[in-house]
Amino acid sequence: MTAKRVKKAVIPAAGLGTRFLPATKAMPKEMLPIVDKPTIQYIIEEAVESGIEDILIVTGKGKRAIEDHFDSVPELEQTLIEKGKSEFLKLVEETTNINIHFIRQSKPMGLGHAVLQAKAFVGDEPFVVMLGDDIVQSEIPCTKQLIDQYYKTERSIIGVQPVLSDVTHRYGIVDPKETLENGLHKVESFVEKPAPGTEPSNLAILGRYLFSPQIFNFLETQVPGSGGEIQLTDAITRLNEVEHVFAYEFTGKRYDVGEKLGFIRTTIEFALNRPDLEKEVLVILKELITNYEGRTIYR
Ligand code: UTP
Repeated sequence: MTAKRVKKAVIPAAGLGTRFLPATKAMPKEMLPIVDKPTIQYIIEEAVESGIEDILIVTGKGKRAIEDHFDSVPELEQTLIEKGKSEFLKLVEETTNINIHFIRQSKPMGLGHAVLQAKAFVGDEPFVVMLGDDIVQSEIPCTKQLIDQYYKTERSIIGVQPVLSDVTHRYGIVDPKETLENGLHKVESFVEKPAPGTEPSNLAILGRYLFSPQIFNFLETQVPGSGGEIQLTDAITRLNEVEHVFAYEFTGKRYDVGEKLGFIRTTIEFALNRPDLEKEVLVILKELITNYEGRTIYR
């Protein structure tokens, strides 16, 4: 049997973004920019570079800006043509040549419930789920790494990386049973946000999943779990009981843009990695640090 090709991606983006209030009161957190690109655009680019052909974004109330961002803007494009600003025109067009679909989650009832909204879009095919809270920079795109593992195993694959033990309580954590080959683990169980000290390992689920369509059978019957929400991790645990779900330690640097400090760090690091900004950003940082140490900063 040859594995079905993985062509579809689902990006849940219907959460409330409470950690970024008040910025997210009227604007989706997925539209917050890292330097000059909304976080969701980095995710879409990873999907496209991984060979994904169709993307479904699950949105909610107040998320219109995401749809607008990936729509064409004829007046803006015309103005850029007239003014000869071809480099900006290219940037604007980059966001409109992709096959993106949208569906609404009626209420933010949890990540599992958001993924369930993709059932009709996905049909009977393997698919990936990508969360906008994590941006991964790697030679081989993170999603492509999971897809390659799927072609070898024909099983659902959950992307993981080790995190420090003092933050395991913020993540879904895997309890590995057996390591099959470098970085690929069979899993005993998946635990959503374990209480500090009770974590079975430090391997955290980091926003990249590849599922067989069987996951929908479990999402449909999933009762609310942690936080009263329909948890994707709980459905994965049940799926694992009938067909093995593997955890794969993907390679690459992962940036947590779902919380403030991670967001600030990512912005600075990405700016320092941009040849057009690097020098001046370094000057700004040095100046700020010097002034800060001299406590001449105004508050
Ligand atoms: P988070 O809990 O990290 O996102 O959910 P959030 O709810 O937007 O942020 P905070 O915690 O309030 O600050 C992880 C992912 O699942 C999506 C979110 O959009 C995010 O990408 N999600 C979560 C949904 O799409 N629907 C939900 O009901 C819950």
